[in-house]
Amino acid sequence: MVVSGATIDSLLKEKEQYPPSAAFRKKAVVKDDAFRLDAAKDPEAFWARMAKELAWIAPWSKVLEWNLPFAKWFVGGKLNVSANCLDRHLSGARRNKAAIVWEGEPGERRVLTYHDLWREVNRFANVLKGLGVKKGDRVTIYLPMIPELPVALLACARIGAVHSVIFGGFSARAIRDRAADAESHVIVTADGGYRRGAVLPLKKIVDEAIDGLDVVRHVVVFRRTGVEVTMREGRDRWWHELMTKADGECAAESMDATDPLFILYTSGTTGKPKGIQHSTGGYLVGVATTTRYVFDLKEEDLFWCTADIGWVTGHSYIVYGPLANGASIFMYEGAPDWPEPDRFWRMIEEYDITTLYTAPTAIRAFMRWGDEYPKRHDLSSLRLLGTVGEPINPEAWRWYQKTIGGGRCPIVDTWWQTETGMILITPLPGITTLKPGSATFPFPGVSAEVVDEKGDPVPVNKGGYLVISKPWPAMLQTLYKDPERFKQVYWSQIPGKYFTGDGARVDEDGCFWLMGRIDDVINVAGHRIGTMEVESALVSHPKVAEAAVVGRPDPLKGQVLVAYVVLKRGEAGSDSLRQELREHVRREIGAIAAPEALYITDKLPKTRSGKIMRRVIRSLVSGQEIGDTTTLEDPGAVDEVRKWLAEVEARKS
Ligand code: PRX
Repeated sequence: MVVSGATIDSLLKEKEQYPPSAAFRKKAVVKDDAFRLDAAKDPEAFWARMAKELAWIAPWSKVLEWNLPFAKWFVGGKLNVSANCLDRHLSGARRNKAAIVWEGEPGERRVLTYHDLWREVNRFANVLKGLGVKKGDRVTIYLPMIPELPVALLACARIGAVHSVIFGGFSARAIRDRAADAESHVIVTADGGYRRGAVLPLKKIVDEAIDGLDVVRHVVVFRRTGVEVTMREGRDRWWHELMTKADGECAAESMDATDPLFILYTSGTTGKPKGIQHSTGGYLVGVATTTRYVFDLKEEDLFWCTADIGWVTGHSYIVYGPLANGASIFMYEGAPDWPEPDRFWRMIEEYDITTLYTAPTAIRAFMRWGDEYPKRHDLSSLRLLGTVGEPINPEAWRWYQKTIGGGRCPIVDTWWQTETGMILITPLPGITTLKPGSATFPFPGVSAEVVDEKGDPVPVNKGGYLVISKPWPAMLQTLYKDPERFKQVYWSQIPGKYFTGDGARVDEDGCFWLMGRIDDVINVAGHRIGTMEVESALVSHPKVAEAAVVGRPDPLKGQVLVAYVVLKRGEAGSDSLRQELREHVRREIGAIAAPEALYITDKLPKTRSGKIMRRVIRSLVSGQEIGDTTTLEDPGAVDEVRKWLAEVEARKS
């Protein structure tokens, strides 16, 4: 484990507690423990009760079929996700309620009511059908944060196509790999998207990505910025032209609860991204339930999850969870500091946003920019705050609670993953006593545990592996086209239990404290990056022979990447080459993966059997103690790596 004794001690010092206020509890969706106790008695019955809140075309015959490690939820049940998110709200008061309140980075505003959104989704579903997309086909989506992005997702769901959204910050290479793996015939994109006043040329990036990739037959392009693009005859089509010709109604396909809804690629410990595959019924039940109970959802809320829909947080808590509940969501296209660092606070004031769900890395950035920006605005519409993506340090938690929440809003620190699909460990804001830095308790109906390597529970306050011991509705179904890897990554470490890859401890009150990843995946600004992916990207450069990439703690971003590179014989290191290598990683993966520091060195420290000693490098770079050196073939290795690191740093090249 990389979790050192020092971390545990420091966490233990956090004894502060924040019980829910009487005023909040009084109006809360969950006011007492009965909800939790009830779920604990019979989790399957609990989930079945939650599932009944949705609209089913045919009821399920079995709540859960558990064939370790494959879980099937609501077997035999039929439903359509877009009908649940749209059609069923049209017959009542929600018909003309805002579904999406959107602001573009340059400042335009759009409001789509549930009826408006339904109309757009129907049309776009027909557009996709017109391009030959059928039930089960994969559609790749590479769009900025504009309402057309949820429209595209829901249109896929309407016709039973499986979407694969790629975050706008990913490079051409990443799109190519993912579109090829998913065998997508159609890619949906825009001419460009706004980011800090500049235009990110999305269509151009797609052109580069699919050059020679024959599987892609059509590219649908939404005109967002007016930036010039090349449209290839026969392949590329304008969104607006197709939409004007498309029929206004498209029947929602009847889907099995166990049919896939989407794939989302995420980083793993090897170079190849994993296609996380999520289901239709179980996933929707999981996200709809957690949205309602974790965020204490009220009809009049304006719910703002600041994530990009390119990440799972946006899938679950911008699109599917809130819309399944008939909520009004707020969506913003651009950067938080554009044109000034008060952009978020200005929008909260103007739109009377009630719920803000964001990442610790953003909170730390806001803290650094200074209190003057939130202080310029009236944030009294806020009633609930949330965080996700990484552990939140207590200092940032307190700042968020006081400066943004005015001391009045509970904070839900929600732990989950792309794989889990839904929040699994979280406070319930009406009943949970909060502790800054702790995600507190498993959501009702969820069984989380902290165990040792053998799978045995560890004592109170002792660090171990976080596992989930029973299936939950939004659990990933498999890795797309790779069930063997699914078994190996998640189910082989601790037999019979889902291995999260996170370290954690449980305190004397049963609260969970997350301690970060225990594998070679690191968390940069709330985004997961496999260090192996970055190594593969570096090694794909013609001048590079070998590379080791590790994470180093960073006060702002959580962690940053540090790369050690050995060049091929005859190549010489220089500042321009280092710059070129960082650029190369940007091109291969995306800007989020570009190493913060890159050292060129003659050799990498290796074990006698030739393995790069990543674990030792990582621990030393992070300033952590090396826990267990007995597995090292050469006990002198630590000193050797220490010496090597000192030399590398001294050379600074
Ligand atoms: O290490 C945990 C961290 O983020 C990882 C999941 O990353 P990803 O799949 O990209 O999904 C992020 C959004 C759901 C986890 O394995 N993580 C996420 N939320 C928290 C967290 N660590 C501590 N506390 C959290 N609240």
